[in-house]
Amino acid sequence: MVVLGIESSCDDSAAAVLRDGRLAASVVSSQDAVHGPYGGVVPELASRHHVRNLLPVIDAALARAGVAVGQVDAVAVTCGPGLVGSLLVGLTLAKGIAQRRRLPLVGVNHLEGHLLAVNLERPAGDPLPFPFLGLIVSGGHTGLYLARGAGDYACLGRTRDDAVGEAFDKAAKLLGLGYPGGPVIDRLARDGDPKAIRFPRATLKRARFDFSFSGFKTALREYLGQHPTSAEALPDVAASLQEALVDMLVDTTTEALATTGVERLVVSGGVAANRRLRTRMGAAAAALGVEVFFPRPAFCTDNAAMIALAGAPRLAAGAHDGLDLGADADLAFGSRWSP
Ligand code: KG4
Ligand code: ZN
Repeated sequence: MVVLGIESSCDDSAAAVLRDGRLAASVVSSQDAVHGPYGGVVPELASRHHVRNLLPVIDAALARAGVAVGQVDAVAVTCGPGLVGSLLVGLTLAKGIAQRRRLPLVGVNHLEGHLLAVNLERPAGDPLPFPFLGLIVSGGHTGLYLARGAGDYACLGRTRDDAVGEAFDKAAKLLGLGYPGGPVIDRLARDGDPKAIRFPRATLKRARFDFSFSGFKTALREYLGQHPTSAEALPDVAASLQEALVDMLVDTTTEALATTGVERLVVSGGVAANRRLRTRMGAAAAALGVEVFFPRPAFCTDNAAMIALAGAPRLAAGAHDGLDLGADADLAFGSRWSP
């Protein structure tokens, strides 16, 4: 079975081809240069660029896979959550292809894609065994999910305000470092002292697996107001703010691992590329005897391979969505979990 995956939930236009469960091609067109001057994603610009980019990206994925559009058996497309204008571009294109070619179409939850992206690293037919815990950390999402079985997911907690990637991006903007901010802070932090400045770590007593990054942002703004940052001080500031964000992610995830008792952890989303997070989470998981998986950066950030992969089992089972499938900016993922 040849599945065409399409993803356009935020600012990346992406298409991928999955042949019999194996990735044949994955193409992503980034809009970083478009949104860079604004220090964050501008939704209207994102949808306009999807309109321009998505069709050539699909063509490129098919060409790279050596597949003609007539050989595609099914289409999997992100239907939420995300920016509604962006989602609509991919969804409308997917519906057009499905209708014209009389192909089955499934809508995929973007977060299920991130959670299952780890299986792109594994041979077809050998997915990561359930149950596992998934920490999704990107510019749009921050949440902890328990994957109990195929299609059986529970949400342990998520951010109450900003996503952690957004916190990195806003910090970089305050420091005048450009967009996206995470990679720059990651790089600067290598030469800094993570203990130089103590930024606050939010703990939410009543919803202990939820995250909050707005207090951190306020504290950072206040600090920078009082301590104009010289170029020499930048590495210490970067290392210290990164440490605060990493601490919040590691502490909450460790507690969730201890509470659920699962033995496998997947960390996915753009922020999973962060070196300090990888080191610290790796050590924390090892101390608990938990095996941790970080998909390679190209599978951590938004891509359509993970969407095709997540949709393929449903398509193989003969399930599909109608052409009335809608884009849902706030599409829920997973039942609410309680211990
Ligand atoms: O998954 P992604 O490409 O797109 C979204 O769905 O948002 O994630 C992008 C986010 C940005 O906020 C970016 O600053 C962050 O991931 N990021 C990083 C690193 N690389 C990307 N954050 C911290 N450290 C990194 N090395
Ligand atoms: Zn994402």
